[in-house]
Amino acid sequence: MPTDTLTVTDNRTGKTYEIKISDGTISATDLRQIRSSPEDFGLMSYDPAFLNTASCRSAITFIDGDKGILRYRGFPIEELAEHSSFLEIAYLLCEGELPTRSQLEVWERDISGHTYVHTSISKFLDGFRYNAHPMGMLLGAVSALSTFYPDAAHVLDRKQRYVQRIRLLAKMPTIAAFAFRHSRGLPYEYPRNDLGYVANFANMTFNIGGRFEPNRVLIRALEVLLILHADHEQNCSTAAMRAVGSSQVDPFSAISAAIAALYGPLHGGANEAVLHMLEEIGDIKNVPSFVEKLKKGHGKLMGFGHRVYKSYDPRARLIKRVADEVFEQTGLNPKLDIALELERIALQDEYFISRKLYPNVDFYTGLIYQAMGYPTEFFTVLFALGRTPGWLAQWEEMLLDPETKISRPRQVYIGHPTRPFVPIHRR
Ligand code: ACO
Repeated sequence: MPTDTLTVTDNRTGKTYEIKISDGTISATDLRQIRSSPEDFGLMSYDPAFLNTASCRSAITFIDGDKGILRYRGFPIEELAEHSSFLEIAYLLCEGELPTRSQLEVWERDISGHTYVHTSISKFLDGFRYNAHPMGMLLGAVSALSTFYPDAAHVLDRKQRYVQRIRLLAKMPTIAAFAFRHSRGLPYEYPRNDLGYVANFANMTFNIGGRFEPNRVLIRALEVLLILHADHEQNCSTAAMRAVGSSQVDPFSAISAAIAALYGPLHGGANEAVLHMLEEIGDIKNVPSFVEKLKKGHGKLMGFGHRVYKSYDPRARLIKRVADEVFEQTGLNPKLDIALELERIALQDEYFISRKLYPNVDFYTGLIYQAMGYPTEFFTVLFALGRTPGWLAQWEEMLLDPETKISRPRQVYIGHPTRPFVPIHRR
């Protein structure tokens, strides 16, 4: 008769233990009863980088990495990308359901009522050097927001959490656009709440002298890209948001930890790295020798591979469609040919096939953003804008979870055993 338990024999002692299995997992703390002696601390699991450890229960995003499936709150990403606005997705992720028309109106009105930033934030941004990386500026300015809203410290108060969610969703595009303007030496363009969320962002970024006219196709394309980035369950930046948020710090501080994680080239910085890589390759004829170099262990094919997807990333598939629509408007990006050739060769190559390496969300986004007029160093900022609702939804879920405790992993100590102090003159 099958039971949902695991029987383990500890060959050190000969003792047998029965450990409960629920939702396909065993609880790591159940291992602690397995001791080699009464003084023994108890067995731990060792899992650097969480390759096989679930750190929470979540009802937000479902991924099947082998089948290439991604769903937010049960809805397939393909349908959401086709039919929804970004703020509708933000509502879905944060509130758990698709909004009714009146719920969406309230949500949009609340967000558009908070798009301005305190003038001291503009001055804060002025303090950055002209060539500061916009992700560094976003990171600094968002963490500084916590000092403007001391009420955000009340993270156990539901109403306060709602207000901070609204503030973050509303102010991220403003800060992002201001960072862009700062690096160009352009005056800040203030929010226009008569425009939609994405069109307002584009206007704050690109408008000079009232001459910017949003291109509907490009605005929708950017909106779809934001939707595709909105959540991706327990990735590096979301894990940072949850871990830092578990200390019950305010959400501005927690989200700046998530932004910092996203800044890294192995996470959100990958789309920037893809562009640098395509520049380095330079010409389609250099693709085969570049791939050979990679296979010998010299670097990685940026925009390829994923911790969870071991088949084609469904977002990458949708992004290829967006790319066609965008390039129809802007003309072809000359680096597209190099990217397509890289993909063609990699998908036929035993090295990439055997390691299940496929294009991820970042492989084509950089080319699209570049065609839209964003500089390379701004790509990760766009990723952060898209991911904000996901971070906020995961933060809320973490705080409401009765199983949440402050995040605090264990370690296996491999340093010296105790040794006597050596005075400086004898070292
Ligand atoms: N190019 C070449 N080889 C690769 C690549 C790649 N992009 N990715 C993985 N490999 C190889 C590894 O060298 C390793 O080979 P080995 O078994 O011979 O040692 C094998 O594939 C397994 O790779 P891991 O590094 O163990 O896979 P992991 O799950 O730890 O890494 C990651 C996933 C970080 C995304 C990795 O694939 C990578 O660095 N890709 C390039 C960066 C990138 O595109 N990041 C964006 C990720 S998506 C996102 O954050 C939005």
